[in-house]
Amino acid sequence: KAMPPRALPHTLDDCRRCPLWRNATQAVPGCGPARAPLMLVGEQPGDQEDLAGQPFVGPAGRLLDDAFARAGIGRDEVYLTNAVKHFKWEARGKRRLHRTPAQQEAAACRAWLEQELAQVQPRVVVALGATALASLLGTEARLNDLRGVPVQSGGRLVIPAWHPAYVLRLPDREAQAAAFDDIVRVLRQAQALAT
Ligand code: URA
Repeated sequence: KAMPPRALPHTLDDCRRCPLWRNATQAVPGCGPARAPLMLVGEQPGDQEDLAGQPFVGPAGRLLDDAFARAGIGRDEVYLTNAVKHFKWEARGKRRLHRTPAQQEAAACRAWLEQELAQVQPRVVVALGATALASLLGTEARLNDLRGVPVQSGGRLVIPAWHPAYVLRLPDREAQAAAFDDIVRVLRQAQALAT
């Protein structure tokens, strides 16, 4: 029997609200404390996250771990999740290349993010990259205008930061170091506002 269109499926892994489940290994739920003052929202699982079923365990996750260490934040204090829960990719030879989720895919997944926000009740949410920012604040919000600027939304503060994968893609070391420092600064600020 068909689901009523607006209802959430019982489990994330059963979600068919958009087609991304077809090519993904599994849905990747958020992880962290049941209640946490600080939540980080990324874009979507990458290749390694799709295989492991856990967020931020690949290269972007390692960069994030370095940023947590520099900011003096324990990864296990923070609730980590993504705006989109299934990995969107295209085959390039043997590799699975990340593709940015479409706006409808992010919109379809927003109900899951809202459920996590309602359960975890973070005081501060760091939006990593433009996809997370659009899911949290609406599509008009621009990362370039708002990076490091706390925005009050739905009774909590949302602070946008660069996505760690963006830092990894920057061409030279100096630009990478500057963008990394920027993430660390936002994490420190978010932690201070959350506690
Ligand atoms: N990039 C993301 O946005 N999220 C992950 O979980 C991994 C990489």
